[in-house]
Parts: sequence; structure tokens; C-alpha cells
Amino acid sequence: MRTDYCGNITASHLEQTVTLCGWVNKRRDLGGVIFLDLRDREGVVQVVFDPDLADQFSAANKVRNEFCVKVVGQVRKRPEGQINKDMKTGEIEILGKEISIFNASAPLPLDSNQDNSEEQRLRYRYLDLRRPLMTQRLMFRAKVTGFVRRYMEDNGFLDIETPILTKATPEGARDYLVPSRTHKGEFFALPQSPQLFKQLLMMSGMDRYYQIVKCFRDEDLRADRQPEFTQIDIETTFLDADGVMAITEDMIRQLFAQLLNVDLGEFPRMSYADAMRRFGSDKPDLRNPLELVDVADLLKDVEFKVFSGPANDTNGRVAVIRVPGGASLSRKQIDDYAKFVGIYGAKGLAWMKVNDISAGESGLQSPVLKFLGASVAQQLVRRCGATDGDILLFGADSANVVTEALGALRLKLGEDLNLLKGEWKPLWVVDFPMFEAVDGQYHALHHPFTAPRDLTAEQLKADPANALSNAYDMVLNGVELGGGSVRIHDSAMQATVFELLGINEQEAEQKFGFLLEALKYGTPPHAGLAFGLDRMVMLMTGATSIRDVMAFPKTTTAACPLTDAPSAANPEQLTELGVAVIARKSDSADKSE
Ligand code: AMO
Ligand code: AMP
Repeated sequence: MRTDYCGNITASHLEQTVTLCGWVNKRRDLGGVIFLDLRDREGVVQVVFDPDLADQFSAANKVRNEFCVKVVGQVRKRPEGQINKDMKTGEIEILGKEISIFNASAPLPLDSNQDNSEEQRLRYRYLDLRRPLMTQRLMFRAKVTGFVRRYMEDNGFLDIETPILTKATPEGARDYLVPSRTHKGEFFALPQSPQLFKQLLMMSGMDRYYQIVKCFRDEDLRADRQPEFTQIDIETTFLDADGVMAITEDMIRQLFAQLLNVDLGEFPRMSYADAMRRFGSDKPDLRNPLELVDVADLLKDVEFKVFSGPANDTNGRVAVIRVPGGASLSRKQIDDYAKFVGIYGAKGLAWMKVNDISAGESGLQSPVLKFLGASVAQQLVRRCGATDGDILLFGADSANVVTEALGALRLKLGEDLNLLKGEWKPLWVVDFPMFEAVDGQYHALHHPFTAPRDLTAEQLKADPANALSNAYDMVLNGVELGGGSVRIHDSAMQATVFELLGINEQEAEQKFGFLLEALKYGTPPHAGLAFGLDRMVMLMTGATSIRDVMAFPKTTTAACPLTDAPSAANPEQLTELGVAVIARKSDSADKSE
């Protein structure tokens, strides 16, 4: 129907007659001349209708915003003074010769000023996606998946699909269940990831697998979490952790170079322990220059119990964030930060302003100075590398509370005080603990199929609390972009890990019997990783939520305002499935937020 995209017409088309199809972005009637901005996915072009073509002029006069039309016209240079350098098509315009209307449009339920509630945007998502910003994000996403497919294929990876109706795959969230009609009372689970299938494919000898695949997790949603999201899922045989990190790092580096013209350089590596100690996070944003500095050793003997208590407790931690220039923070600001760390369980936020180091004690200002003494105060200043005009902010509590509270405070200060430096800061976080203990029970930090680092099954069993795993996370600007590990390929080790996780033999057999069995038949060493595609595109497009880079995302309560899913099933369907409903939506939170 058309010869060109609206957004692609440039001076190279001068004098040509073109046929364009699209939507009326804006219609202006300027004293007898009608201007239409015509839009398609590639952009907007200006069309002018003069009154001397009476029929066409009157047709153009009838169109309104968001009508879908076809225009035939001649490309001409815009008069001097009307050239718009900010527009791709800003040097030219189309002199309209014919216009036909495919479809009129009712006034849109979304405001053209784009200031719409997210609920409204999701309800009319197809209209929200007409906005150039949203269109461009989806087009960019397609470029990313295109690049990934080409890279994977060029490097010998096979795209293999895995089942969506399957058995539970433990990635730490709740499962979405699907009742089976043919096996009443039994349920499929939607995969939280294709983890077990990709391992089985390595056992099949596929050697290198990848898939751009939907994963389903029923968990609390945030800006970077959705109940269904997309992974770039990767698995390899006969590659160790370094091998997987090398190839996935190379892919991301090339992706950024090709699509954003950004050189990410070589990614530094940091141990989990260092990341937690220095940044209070296992996904540190290295654009933020603030660090946590440990000071417990200086505070063991001070009179101030709030500090000396945790300083003398093996499970305690006392740490400081030095904020350059922070001495100008007001009492109100400091109090607000104290409230903020309270969210993470901190009981207060002691502070010390460094006004004039050369003045000794009188150059320091702090409500706790009198409990510390001049000498300790000076040592603190030195340890933190403070200079005049800085503030020291203290956390003293159990190590977990201090690390989490100051880790969160660090991010907040970075944002509030505009401290972020550099545009892109990638890194690998490695040497994760195998397990974390919650109420005396071990949980896998990655997933239960992750191999320990340099340990036999006996050694692992002897000291699980201190065991490190052979897992790695790729972090970019404080976002966990992807994670993976070397897998267990030995059935005795797999059985030991299940046992340590409190999964008894019977349960292991019932849940993962097929995996344990498969491990008997010449399983090769294998390792892999999965990227969160939505997060990757969010970062690359500068969006602040993964919802803004997904065509049809769900609300934070995991509902779809567009289709009104989830919705009640009819009674016949339920009977056929052998399912009875014992609680209804009205019994729980409203799904529409
Ligand atoms: P993991 O659970 O770390 O590992 O997930 C891999 C990556 O997927 C993204 N991601 C999400 N994105 C959006 N919404 C969510 N709810 C969500 N959950 C995770 C993150 C994360 O880094 N099978 C393993 C991978 C492996 O070991 O190979 C796995 O799924 O970017
Ligand atoms: P208090 O003696 O409780 O009034 O506290 C004196 C100062 O220490 C105040 O600035 C509190 O915010 C701070 N503070 C109290 N508890 C802690 C804590 N656990 N960690 C850091 N600072 C604290």
C-alpha cells in the first residue's frame, strides 16, 4: 500500500511522489493551509494540503488526531525558517495530492500530554505503545534479541525449545500451577527457568544450547521483576566458570558496542564477601563512589554501648559511610536518613561532621563525640580518609542489619546527592556462599544444582556454612543482569546438596528423580548462565522499569488491566478439571491494585 515509511523520508527523496500510511499525530489548520503530522513506527513527517486541490483539502479537513490514513504526495524542501533540525524528516515536507481515510478514531482515552497513570496505560496498552518512546523501546528490544541470536549462532549455540507445561523448577519463587484435565488432581508447574531441561540437554550431548525464553515466577513484584519475564538462557558442556564468563562477557561487550557504541572494557571481578563488606550489596553499583568502612576494632573500648556492643560481638558490625561534602547536611536531612535506615532494622544513625581537622576535637561535631573521646574520633577520621566538609554516618548492629542498612543508605545518598560517576559500570560477582541459613535451615544461594568450589561431597558436608559455590553474577550499574554457575554433574554430590538443603531422599526422588537418574549415564561437566533480557533492555534504553520495555506487562499485583486476566473460570471448565474454588478474589487483595 505504501512506498516508504513516514519517518524515513529525507532530502534524498526530493521531488519524488511517495505513498505513506500511518496515523495523524497532529492536525493544524493554519489560515487555509492544513498541516498533518503523519506518524508510523519509524517517525513523523509533515504533510501540507493547499486549498487549490478542493476535494483533497476538504478530506484533509475532516481528519482528526489518530485517524489512520493513506497519503500520496510529493516531497519538497521546507521553506527557509521552517526547517526543523531536531527532526529526522525536518528538512522536507510532503505536498499532499491525495488522502484516504482507512479508519477514523474516537478521542483517545489516554492524554496526549502522556501524563497517564500506569493503570490507564496498561489498560490501553496498544495505544500507549503508539507513543514514539514506547515504539522505539520495543524496536530496540528487537535489535537486542536479533543481535543475541546472531551471536549465539555464530558461536555454535543451538536454539532448543523446552516445555512450558512442566514440573516445579526451584529458583526461589512460588510456582504458577496449571491443572491437568487428563490427570485430575494433578498439576503442571510453569517453569521458573528451563534450568533442569538445559542440563538434560547437555547430558544429551547438544554441547551448546541457548533459548530466548519466558520464565514464570509468582513472587513479590518490583520495578525490575515481573511474574513472566524473558531470559537469554545459556548452557555449555566442557566449559568451566571462566569459559562461560568469557563468552557471555564478550557477547555483552559486543552488544553494547554495536547497539550503543559503548565500550564496556574488561569486567572486573569481585568476591561476594568484598561486595557485601565494601558496598553492602551483592550487586554493587560501582558508579557510586561511597563505600562502607569497618571501624569495629577502633570502638571496642569506648563508653558508648551502642558502638562497643556490636564491636565486641562476633556477629556484630560497626561501619561508616563517609560522605564527601556531607557536613552541609541539615539536622532534618540526617533525621530523615536515620528514618530511612530504620526500614532495614537500624536503630539509629550516629553521625560526625568533620568541619576543621586542623582544629582537633573542636573541629569535629557529633552528638556521640563525648562518648568516643578525642583520640578515637581522630582515628575514625583517619580510617575513613575524611577531609574538611565531610560527614561520617555510622551503623552499629548485627552484621546483617548494618550491611543491609548502610548498603541501602549508600544507594540513596548516591542518588540524592547526585554522586554517580561514569555511565556504565559492569562487574562479575563471584565466590558466593553455597548456602544461606534462615532459622537454622540452609537454602541454596543460587539454586540446588550449583556445584561447590573445589570441594568433595565429604568436605562440603563437613563445613557447609563456609562452602563457596562456583557461581557468578553479572552486574551492571547495580542491577543483576544475569547469573549462572558450574553445575553438579555427580550424583553423590547432588544427593549431598539435597540432604544439606533438608530435602530427604523420598522428596528428592519425587521432585528430581529424573535428574538424579540422568546423572547416572555419563553426565559431562557443564555450566551456564541466564540473562534477564527485560533488565538488559531496560538499562540500555534508560527506562526505569522493566514494564516499560515489555509489550504487555502485568501490574505490580500480577494482573493485566487490558485483558482483565486473571479471571474466573466457568463452572463446567472447573468440573472438567476436577478443581473446586475455595476462595475468591474478593477474599484477597483487589487484583487491579
Ligand atoms: P536467576 O534466578 O538468577 O537464575 O535468573 C537469571 C536472571 O533472570 C532475571 N530475572 C528476572 N527478571 C525479571 N523478573 C523476574 N521476576 C526475574 N527473576 C530473574 C535476572 C536474573 O539475573 N536458571 C538460573 C540461571 C543459571 O543458573 O543458568 C536462573 O534462572 O536478570
Ligand atoms: P542515643 O544514645 O540512643 O540517643 O543515640 C545517640 C546517637 O546514636 C543518635 O544519633 C542515634 O541515631 C545513634 N544511634 C543509636 N543507635 C544506633 C545504632 N545501632 N547504629 C548507629 N547509630 C545509632
